[in-house]
Amino acid sequence: MLETKFLDFTYENPLMNASGVHCMTVEELDDLSASKAGVFITKSATLQERAGNPEPRYADVPLGSINSMGLPNHGVDYYLDYALSYQKNHTAPLFFSVAGTSVEENITLLEKVQASEFKGITELNLSCPNVPGKPQVAYDFPLTEQILKRVFGFFTKPLGVKLPPYFDMAHFDQMAAILNQFPLTYVNSINSIGNGLYIDPTRDQVVIRPKEGFGGIGGEYVKPTALANVRAFATRLNPEIKIIGTGGILTGQDAYEHLLCGATMLQVGTQLQKEGPAVFDRILKELSTIMEQKGYERIEDFRGKLKTI
Ligand code: FUM
Repeated sequence: MLETKFLDFTYENPLMNASGVHCMTVEELDDLSASKAGVFITKSATLQERAGNPEPRYADVPLGSINSMGLPNHGVDYYLDYALSYQKNHTAPLFFSVAGTSVEENITLLEKVQASEFKGITELNLSCPNVPGKPQVAYDFPLTEQILKRVFGFFTKPLGVKLPPYFDMAHFDQMAAILNQFPLTYVNSINSIGNGLYIDPTRDQVVIRPKEGFGGIGGEYVKPTALANVRAFATRLNPEIKIIGTGGILTGQDAYEHLLCGATMLQVGTQLQKEGPAVFDRILKELSTIMEQKGYERIEDFRGKLKTI
């Protein structure tokens, strides 16, 4: 019922983790592999191992989360080693995330992936809001276009991009026009809503240390923005470019709504952090129940079929 075709492979279901959540270490990645998620993605890797921002850098807050992790990760070789050994024993193509902190680092990371035996799908994260002094790349439209031109000059493996949320119709139009020039496999919308501020009312204090408390917001707060971004890109991108819907998926109903807006795969971030990998089983059961109630046998029966008034 929930089988999902993505590129040439059919995954058991569309659920995955959002990069950054429960995917930093081999142990966490193995947990995801053993979970009910259809597939999973590695933590966004930089060339060298990074410690990330000072703690506390993540907080659960009433309707979601705030984080300023700052790309802590074990470096690209660690995740590439994992991916190469994973693909020896599994047929499902793995997702592999990279996030350089400069254009040159992104190019070098992708050159490394291109030169490797990796056969899965690469995600270029152009939207991390948490590295001090490094603006989110995909808010710079000419720079995004320039990077993609360079990347597709040499990168021939399946590639998607992870985008920040956009909030203006003109920006949806402009970004879609840029993305449509390239043979992208997918667009992942959205990364956290960057640079929010949560205040602990008992202390009159921020809840994370980096950037004086500013951090990316996830969870329930972001679902309407995520759905709008999924819908906006689903209706503007070439049909060959699939959408991964990320943001505010806590329940089967949230997953259903992302699919209705046109998403093909779905990533769970904050709720995975809060609930652990058992979240996938619960959401899948809830999604199946909704589909049964509505008389749908396959996701294709309703994907993208959002009605307007
Ligand atoms: O700060 C972080 O590591 C988060 C990265 C992201 O949101 O892409």
